[in-house]
Amino acid sequence: MDVLEGLRELQARRATAAGRLGLVPTMGALHPGHRALLRAARDRCDNVAASLFVNPTQFGAEDDFAGYPRTWDRDLEILAAEGVDFVWAPPMEVMYPEGPVATVDPGQLATVLEGKARPGHFAGVATVVARLFDQVRPDMAFFGQKDWQQTRVIADLVERLEPGIELVVAATVREADGLACSSRNVCLDGQGRRAATALYGGLVRASAAFEGGEEDAEALREMVRTTVASEPLARLEYASVADALDLIELEVAREPVVFSGAVTVGGVHLIDNIVVGPELAREDGTDGTGSGL
Ligand code: PAJ
Repeated sequence: MDVLEGLRELQARRATAAGRLGLVPTMGALHPGHRALLRAARDRCDNVAASLFVNPTQFGAEDDFAGYPRTWDRDLEILAAEGVDFVWAPPMEVMYPEGPVATVDPGQLATVLEGKARPGHFAGVATVVARLFDQVRPDMAFFGQKDWQQTRVIADLVERLEPGIELVVAATVREADGLACSSRNVCLDGQGRRAATALYGGLVRASAAFEGGEEDAEALREMVRTTVASEPLARLEYASVADALDLIELEVAREPVVFSGAVTVGGVHLIDNIVVGPELAREDGTDGTGSGL
């Protein structure tokens, strides 16, 4: 496995990667969710590249960029074990050279949910993902359903700017108690770790009620709110029942729908979602992927 830190090296390595190249963008601190994306890429592509770059422009003033977990040596072991062909790990000055850098406006999709809670976050994500695509030139790119809004922002970006790249969205990988795997979970203490499961509990309750026939979206949001409220250590930031594609809040819930929310537990920001709708995503993990975005 080659680890590349310069653009010229990357271009030379890219040129030798025959057939379909899959890219799995990451910020490191790898966990089973990342591993599922790497396996999905391995299954579908001749060559697999992963990127490791903790992107400062997607962190807000309150998010702790400096405190984001960094586990470089272990990450490289995991990437090698998953059969990655090359790793793109640009230093800061390669990704963001001094002087003007074109930024990508993530548009309307970035004004709601996480975009509202974390202003500027999706401009940072869209900009770095567009740069990664331009640098690595993959045929396919793999993202996790865990960050559903991110997948929508990137699907829109690909449609507008990078139409040659095929996106695959892989199902959310969870711990045994339902908590979505996240690099930030290591920042939770024991009590916080237990409290963090309340969000998924609320989302399961609301999506089950929807599948049982409840169509009143406000009643479904309220189920998420009351479930999270029963856990004193978890503070709800928002609960949403929205169209899964344009992310606009619904009054009457109908497929494709995304149930999503964010909580803060002991200063740690956690998000989760459940998507219900044909061809969009798999919660059952049977094949771990759904594309067609
Ligand atoms: P990061 O949080 O490292 O996540 C990298 C990829 O792993 C994303 O596509 C994310 O959705 C996916 N992922 C995270 N947790 C997952 C889980 N439990 N199950 C399945 N997939 C999961 O997302 C980012 O980095 C950054 O925003 C990035 C796209 C790399 C741009 O900087």
